[in-house]
This record gives sequence, structure tokens and C-alpha cells, in this order.
Amino acid sequence: MHTLSFPDKIPLGIFPTPVQKLENISRELNANIYIKRDDMTGVALGGNKVRKLEYLLCEAQKLGAEIVFTTGGAQSNHAMLTAACAGKIGMTPILILKKKGVTEKKGNRLLESLMSTDVRFMDTNSYDDIYNEMDKVGASLGKPYYKIPCGGSNALGTVGYVDCVREIRDQGYQFDRIICAEGSGGTMAGLALGAKLFMPACRVTGMMVDTDPFDEITPRLMKEAAEILNADVEISGGDFDLIDMCGPGYAIASREGNEAVALMAEKEGIFLDPVYTGKAFAGLIQMAKEGKLRKDENILFLHSGGAGGLFAIEM
Ligand SMILES: Cc1ncc(COP(=O)(O)O)c(C=O)c1O
Repeated sequence: MHTLSFPDKIPLGIFPTPVQKLENISRELNANIYIKRDDMTGVALGGNKVRKLEYLLCEAQKLGAEIVFTTGGAQSNHAMLTAACAGKIGMTPILILKKKGVTEKKGNRLLESLMSTDVRFMDTNSYDDIYNEMDKVGASLGKPYYKIPCGGSNALGTVGYVDCVREIRDQGYQFDRIICAEGSGGTMAGLALGAKLFMPACRVTGMMVDTDPFDEITPRLMKEAAEILNADVEISGGDFDLIDMCGPGYAIASREGNEAVALMAEKEGIFLDPVYTGKAFAGLIQMAKEGKLRKDENILFLHSGGAGGLFAIEM
């Protein structure tokens, strides 16, 4: 029995999110597929970042921050949700986004303009440049500020998805496999650590939608989050599976991903997105077609949100 010490969090979303069986798709793929509706986390258009932000913004509040910085690509779901959550608790969000992708007022950029969010673009490929710029802007404003890394994927953000596995267990489920999109790593690392702690027979598969070294990032985040939780676990690269579903590139739609979005919409009335969840679900379909999902296994697909992308990214 682990004596875990979860850090404090602030309530921002609506939890637990539902778990549903995908009856039509299960029939079609000859497998038992369930979906965790983290597209219904209850802030903005929903999405995985709310679980991370409950921990991150709690720390920001404790440190007395008035301004919250974060970053990502032009259509970052994480940046939009950080703006929504920070605004909800009276902090001022400032987004310094990479000038990469769809910068027009579509999708998440439209939502940010509806929230009157301070959005700035930087023409750089380096997040370090952006973190330095945050320090410059923060110093010039003379107010206490808090920096959230891209995707909210540091150890504290990762704890949000450890918590998610505890929630799934408390909802009365035990799954054999959880499948999710991996974009900056925290969601996957949290689920993989959470499975070790709360669902030991469950294996987690991350569908990589970017080209970062997730075989290194995932166990590092797992170890750092385990330290925060005071969890006595051995972590290794063998704890999880990774599959490359990036296709033509990060934030560029793939044919398989688009087909997965269409299948889920048509058969289940649920909308995935072209950048993360569509590609991740395409990975699940691929596993089913390759006979890698057994009929006696219960599989959980994490719907991590991303609806904004549907209205901005060309499919
Ligand atoms: C909709 C959606 N799904 C999945 C992910 C991936 O999560 P993570 O960044 O924790 O790997 C993200 C964010 O990057 C996202 O916005």
C-alpha cells in the first residue's frame, strides 16, 4: 500500500468525467472500447489541460502570482485553456505563442479573442527564447508572475493524470489498456504512473503526435511526479508503449487521423480533433486491425479534447 501525498489543487472543472462504452465502434473493430470523456472537463470546450491546471494554478495562487504566462503553438489548446482557467480565478493570463500554424482568429485564437486574452507571437522555434521573453515581460509589468511550460507538462501538471487514473478506478473500472495522445508528455506520463499505482494490470499506450523524444520524456516526468507524490515505485522505459502517429507533422492533419475523426463522429456522435485525438484514435484502429487488441480486453481511449482545432486546422 502506497502512502501517497497528492499536492493541493483548486477545483476548476467538472469531475468525474463520464466513461462510456463505444458500442458501435466496438462492434466494428471487434473489441471492447470505452472512452473517457475528458473533452467534457467543464471549462471552455473541455480538454485534458484542466486537470493539470487545477494543480498548476493552485501553486501559482499560493506563490501570490497575479499574472500567468504560458506558451504553445498558435492553436494551442493548452494556452487557450490556461487563459480560460486563469481568468476564472481572477489571474491575468498572457500567452506568448510560437508564430507557427494558424494565427488568424479561428479555432482557439477566436476563443482567446472572446476572452480578451493578451496574446503575443514570437517568431522563434525555441521555447527557451519564449521563457526568457516571459521573464522580460513579467519584470516590465512589475507584478508577481508564474510561468507554465508548454502543454503544462512538468511534474506537477503530470500529477493531474495520475489523479485521472485514480478517478477511473473510483468510478468502478479496471482497464487492460489505456490509449491516449502524447503531445508534450504530461498526460501520458501521468496515466502511466497512475496505472502503476491504481491499476497495476493496465498498460498505457501513447500515440505520439509530435517528434520529441518521448521515450526519454515520459519516464522522466513519471519519476518526477512520483517524487512529488512520495510514491515508492520503480519506473522504467518498459512501463509503457509508444506508437508514432505524427504522420505529416505536428498540427498537420493525417489521412488516418481524419478517417478516425469521421468514424467517431458518424458512429458515436462524438467529435475528435485533427491534431491530437483523431491521430491517437487512428492508432487505436491500427492496433485493432493488426490484431493487437484482444477481444477479452477492455480498452479505454482518453478523449483529451481539442475541439478548437476542428475549426482551424485544414483537414
Ligand atoms: C486535445 C489534446 N489532446 C492531447 C494533448 C497531449 O497532451 P500532453 O501535452 O500532455 O502530451 C494535448 C496537448 O498537447 C491536447 O491539446
